[in-house]
Parts: sequence; structure tokens; C-alpha cells
Amino acid sequence: MVGHQSKKTILITGGAGFIGSNFIPYFLDKNPGINVVNLDALTYAGDLDNLREIDAQPNYTFVKGDICDYVLVNQLFEKYKITDVINFAAESHVDNSINSPGQFIKTNIEGTFNLIEIARNYWKSKNNRFHHISTDEVYGSLGENGYFTEASNYQPNSPYSASKASSDFLVRSYHHTYGMNVVTSNCSNNYGPKQHDEKLIPTIIRSAIKGMKIPIYGNGKNVRDWLFVQDHCIGIDTIFKKGVAGETYVLGGNSEYDNLTIAKKVCDILDLKLANSKGSYKNQIEFVEDRLGHDFRYAIDASKVFEKLGWKASESFESGLEKTVNWYLNKYRP
Ligand SMILES: NC(=O)c1ccc[n+]([C@@H]2O[C@H](COP(=O)([O-])OP(=O)(O)OC[C@H]3O[C@@H](n4cnc5c(N)ncnc54)[C@H](O)[C@@H]3O)[C@@H](O)[C@H]2O)c1
Repeated sequence: MVGHQSKKTILITGGAGFIGSNFIPYFLDKNPGINVVNLDALTYAGDLDNLREIDAQPNYTFVKGDICDYVLVNQLFEKYKITDVINFAAESHVDNSINSPGQFIKTNIEGTFNLIEIARNYWKSKNNRFHHISTDEVYGSLGENGYFTEASNYQPNSPYSASKASSDFLVRSYHHTYGMNVVTSNCSNNYGPKQHDEKLIPTIIRSAIKGMKIPIYGNGKNVRDWLFVQDHCIGIDTIFKKGVAGETYVLGGNSEYDNLTIAKKVCDILDLKLANSKGSYKNQIEFVEDRLGHDFRYAIDASKVFEKLGWKASESFESGLEKTVNWYLNKYRP
């Protein structure tokens, strides 16, 4: 583990969201000696049902609250003697950032500032780690070829990615200016259980089984590199423990697919699992007006994290998607 304290208490923010609620149970299981305090505002994106499995664990505490709340975050550092932070909390949906960017600036930039500033004042040692969770969207958009690496230029194109880029820069500056022990991981699109209904794969599954149109932006050709959320959790645990202070790590699943292909793959799985009197679920796919400023392609070259820390994605896209569809079928079917 990072640092030398015998008992670690990690403040995990945004732990009731998609990735956080996959991460915390994994992290507690993997690291039985640590305590976790989960600070989450329970916005529309947070759901405590996703954490029921660890509710009763004595080394887990949930606190409802805002990462922007200086008094509360300060109290938590004092009360729980926080040794490290893993910052997941964010407004995360690009579409929402286009319609109303204000909350993205507050949570993603001001909230990260509040956390790291309090950590700087509270921690007396360089062993205390601040791990900032970020996205590959900060690098902008690729053409048909090429990959993002840690050396790629920041060229955020949406209010969401601009707010995440700003928070990445803040975190970086706290290492360079104050010598804080920070790491940042920039990950590609995650998929898996517990993701909010608003996101692409849950929308495809829900729309399909409810007999509604399956909406696909533009011509469906926008490409993302899909990473199974459990693989991301393993990557975060690895970087949190072994990442070098001040460094960034990009994570990807080596699974590039465009949105239309994703929709067809989900429909293929559903066709096998759920008979549909109207024929294939693919018949429900419909193109809708494109998202403003929709980035064309994201793809990750994750060789640094593999070569330096030994992490690479292990779930195949086929098996990850099957697990995901099964989870949503349980959720959506009466
Ligand atoms: N989902 C992805 O594909 C993906 C990919 C790369 C990086 N990321 C990053 O990973 C992190 C987690 O993403 P996610 O998909 O789990 O997001 P999510 O939207 O599912 O969850 C965000 C969580 O943060 C909480 N939250 C929001 N504002 C808060 C505030 N002001 N104070 C405290 N809690 C607050 C919400 O209640 C929610 O539980 C984000 O920082 C995101 O930028 C996500």
C-alpha cells in the first residue's frame, strides 16, 4: 500500500455512482485492512441500492454530502483521519453538460479543488495519496487512426471534458507546486452493471425490451474504446497502490466499436435470450439528431500502465457485454 500508516482510511467520493459502486466492494474485498468513507451527494446519478452488499461492513461508512462543502469535507478529514482520497465524484453525462454546464463546473472543478485543498492542509506527509479519476475525453477527438497516450495534448471539446481537463490540471499543479502525492488515471468508456439508465448501453437494452425505438446519434459511426467496469476497478486499485506520484495513466479496453455496432451486438444477445414477436430487436434501431460537437473517435494505447504496473484489461468484450445485458434484464424485466 501507499504510505506507512498501519490503518488506512480512504475517502472515496462519488462511490454511489456507476464506477464507484463497482469499485468500493472490490476494493474492500481486496484490501481487508482498510477503512472506506464514501462521500456522495446522491444526485440523480447515485444509487445506494448498488452498495447494499457492503452496507453492514464495519470498515465501510456512507456519508451523504457534497464534495464542494468545505466544512463537511474538513470535518470528515478530522473525524475519520483520512489518509488517502480517490475522487470519483463528478457530473458525468456529456449530454447534460451541453444542456446545463454550470453544475459540471461546480462539482468537477470546484469540488476537486475543495478536496485537494483540504487534503493539502490536513496531510503532513507525502505518503498520503490523492488519486483523481478522469477520462480520455480530455484529449479531444481522434480521426480514423491513432491512439491517445499519456503524452497526448489536452483538447477537450465538451463542457464535461473541459471541466474534467481543468480538474486534471489542478491536481497536476498540486504535485508540481506542493509536492503532493497525486496520480491521475484517464480511462475510456466503461460499461457493465450498475450504470445509470441514461447511458448508451442501458438505453439500448431498456428501449429494446420495452418495444421502443433504440436511439442512435447521427449515423452511428462514432467510435469508443469500451472497458468492462471490473477491469477499470482493478486498474484503479493497481494505480492507487503502485502508481508513481505526479504521473498519469491512460486505461482502455482495446475494444473499439462504433455506436451502431454496439446496438447490433446488444440486439444479437437479446434476440437469443428473449423471443420477440416482431423479429430481431435490431428493427427498433433508429438514427436520431446527432449530439452537438460529438467527438468522432476515442482510442487508448494503454502500454504504459501495462509496462510499468502490469495492468491490462482481461474481460473480452463479448463476455463483458453478456454479463451487462444479464444484469439489466434482471433490473428491467418485471
Ligand atoms: N463512466 C465512464 O465511462 C467513465 C469513463 C472515464 C472516466 N469516468 C470518470 O469516472 C468517475 C465516475 O464516473 P461514473 O460513470 O461512475 O459517474 P456517475 O455519474 O455514475 O456517478 C457519479 C457519482 O458522483 C456523485 N456526485 C455527483 N456530484 C457530486 C458532488 N458534488 N458531491 C458528491 N458526490 C457527487 C453522484 O451522486 C454519483 O453517485 C467520474 O469522475 C467520471 O468522469 C467515467
